[in-house]
Amino acid sequence: MTSQEPQRPSVDDLEAAFVDAFGQAPDGVWSAPGRVNLIGEHTDYNEGFVLPFAIDRTARVAIRRRDDQRVRLMSSYAGADPVEADLSELSPDALHGWEAYPLGVVWALQQEGVDVPGFDLYLESSVPTGAGLSSSAAIESAVALSLNDLAGAGFSRPRLVQVGRRAENEVVGAPTGILDQSASLLSTDGHAVFLDCRTQESDAVPLDLAAANLAILVIDTKVSHAHATGGYGDRRASCEKGARMAGVPSLRDLAVADLPRLSSVLDEETYRRVRHILTENERVLQTVKLLRDQGPTTIGPVLNASHDSMRDDFEISCPELDLAVSTAQQAGALGARMTGGGFGGSAIALLSTSDQDRIQSAVLAAFATAGFRRPDVFVVEPGQGATRLR
Ligand code: GLA
Repeated sequence: MTSQEPQRPSVDDLEAAFVDAFGQAPDGVWSAPGRVNLIGEHTDYNEGFVLPFAIDRTARVAIRRRDDQRVRLMSSYAGADPVEADLSELSPDALHGWEAYPLGVVWALQQEGVDVPGFDLYLESSVPTGAGLSSSAAIESAVALSLNDLAGAGFSRPRLVQVGRRAENEVVGAPTGILDQSASLLSTDGHAVFLDCRTQESDAVPLDLAAANLAILVIDTKVSHAHATGGYGDRRASCEKGARMAGVPSLRDLAVADLPRLSSVLDEETYRRVRHILTENERVLQTVKLLRDQGPTTIGPVLNASHDSMRDDFEISCPELDLAVSTAQQAGALGARMTGGGFGGSAIALLSTSDQDRIQSAVLAAFATAGFRRPDVFVVEPGQGATRLR
């Protein structure tokens, strides 16, 4: 089975689009992927463990350096006129729309002391927006990597992760952690990235689905979510409150064995929020061990347990995500869970390739019966992290 990536322009087409837009050839083309988080949700900003993988859908940028302080931005999906900005006048409050991602990265690099040169940029992306697959981190990571090269800044990839996160936190305004940018910048083909968000140390874990006749199906519920407002920030605040009440700097300093003690220290809701984080960290470690020792066929029950914890303890699921997960499970998936920040976006199901059509039909039928919007259902493959293409 092949992944169902939509038809997209070749790198030559992208260069031609750049020439059309700006009249000259670009200096280079860079690409960075979206991600699926296999397991480890809301653990990143609690300095815990995550296990995402890059997907075979990417944002690509063609860039040419300029001799002045101007930036001109075009994308295949925004208006026909470039967005223009002056490098000396960037301010987080003044950046909105899609340009907040590339210009947010420029601003964050400037804050880190990089002398970013003027440039023209053309963006094209096959990461669906609003699906919870980190389309924004894909743009941020492609821009961070390309400007790092263009400016000769010499930042390491973990440092570029922090640049992308800073853009997301301080310019876009979403109080997120380092999961998405890490997946985009640190992934290697055919592997998931096991990341310790406290030390930023990462390790590649084999995720050879094809060899086991398995696939990961994404079910994009089309329920929109925005992490700059609402539930995401509330959950983060609950975790910080839990750590404060437990007398530790971060929930990373607690473990499942502390739960009995915590039940008398924390209020009922905070206790459940904390229980999700502590058990989820355990599940990431368990998944890494299973993948290394026995391969992907064995991880289904851990994925299912993760979904239950997000639905009942952390309360970040929604009826559409729950239906996607339960339908896939009942139709024979080895495991299924929502992925990403929650409150909408996508679920994933791990399944035998021979069951894909049946499970896909069952999910579509269940959504139709429930009167929900038709979801987008497609297979993703673990792909490579951000790279220079040309
Ligand atoms: C979003 C955020 C990440 C992470 C996940 C939940 O994707 O951007 O930093 O917190 O939610 O795991």
